[in-house]
Amino acid sequence: MRQLIAGNWKMNGTGASLAEIEAVARAVVAGKAACDVMICPPATLIAPAVAAAADRIEIGGQNCHAEVSGAFTGDISAEMLKDAGASAVIVGHSERRQYHGETDAMVAAKAKAAWRAGLLAIICIGESEQEHSDGKTFHVCSRQLSGSVPADAKAANTCIAYEPIWAIGTGKTPTSQQIANVHAHIRKELVAKLGAEANEMRLLYGGSVKGANAKEILALENVDGALVGGASLKAADFQPIFMAAAAKS
Ligand code: PGA
Repeated sequence: MRQLIAGNWKMNGTGASLAEIEAVARAVVAGKAACDVMICPPATLIAPAVAAAADRIEIGGQNCHAEVSGAFTGDISAEMLKDAGASAVIVGHSERRQYHGETDAMVAAKAKAAWRAGLLAIICIGESEQEHSDGKTFHVCSRQLSGSVPADAKAANTCIAYEPIWAIGTGKTPTSQQIANVHAHIRKELVAKLGAEANEMRLLYGGSVKGANAKEILALENVDGALVGGASLKAADFQPIFMAAAAKS
């Protein structure tokens, strides 16, 4: 299956950063990247990012509200992201769960909102450092998959991003064997929940992915792409990652 390399800019980037999106778009074409490439900039940049991407890369949001519209000051609906030109939205990122109290039920509602608007939902799951050291990784992933992934999720409208919280922005990554084991577990859980459909659903790994480790991670079984934070902010850092994906297929 075609891998997806998605960059999550978090709360970084201003108009000056659009040059990085233009550079990524150029690099995708010049390198004939054999994967789908996406950047999820802050909401203020979505519309100009879509123009800068020139149909060569996808642009996504980082969060959405579950409702279409209404009295929710400061929130943005999936329909608004779509209207601005986005084709996807990240839901349930651990920073949203941690700093905004998002529960599995809220994440599932946001995923449904994404589908309603015609967006791909990138649903994030992953254990904390404590849960990791307590040996609860599989348990936490199972619980989050059960609560955050709606029962009618389809491969065409949903990706799952496994992001161990202790690996996000820390430079630490699980071993390749650990990533492969967790991804195999996620695939098994999804097949039990969604049926054969789940075999086609892309499972992304996220957490300190960079040029130096991308090739090894992306070559692992059941790793169908990556969700990249820090290393997606500069085209020069992001390029080796999506070119590593191209090398797999
Ligand atoms: P990182 O972030 O690549 O900077 O570790 C990943 C993420 O939070 O999606």
